[in-house]
Amino acid sequence: MEILTAIPRKKIPFLAACALLPVMVWALACNHEPHQTAREPADYIKPIPGPSDSVPVAAAKKGEVLVGYSDCYTCHKEDKRSKGPAFRDIAKRYPVNEAYIQYLAKKIISGGSGSWGAAVMTPHPALPQDDAQTMVRYILSLRK
Ligand code: HEC
Repeated sequence: MEILTAIPRKKIPFLAACALLPVMVWALACNHEPHQTAREPADYIKPIPGPSDSVPVAAAKKGEVLVGYSDCYTCHKEDKRSKGPAFRDIAKRYPVNEAYIQYLAKKIISGGSGSWGAAVMTPHPALPQDDAQTMVRYILSLRK
């Protein structure tokens, strides 16, 4: 207790503020994180307007199986962006209609980049167009 009495009374509020400073910095730093993750999707997904059909459950199920047997999950996750965009984000961008289903199937077969950023999707030349379209139906069925 000798130490406490040695500190001049006037300085105690100042010393208390110093002790609290790291706590305040920590609290502020933590507050910033949610803003960063919340900001990304708005200009990342770029939803395309247009009428959207529903995907028959059987087609979606078949597509999910085909995706599971291919290499898709090495770069894609259903809900989270990894090397490639999340399947759910792809579903949020493209309305379900034949034109987009064909376009996306061709893109899976030929691969490429630029629609979602700089990362490159490897081509899948051995994949039949029909199977690729079924995969796309599954991916677009994740649209909520
Ligand atoms: C090597 C990693 C990789 C693999 C393997 C991969 N993808 Fe991709 N995929 C990507 C990347 C990266 C993009 C974003 C491409 C872009 O920005 O144009 C993408 C984009 C897509 C898109 C959206 C294309 C667009 O133009 O919006 C679909 C659909 C898709 N992938 C489906 C699949 C399916 C189905 C498979 C499995 C047959 C697969 N991907 C395998 C990396 C991969």
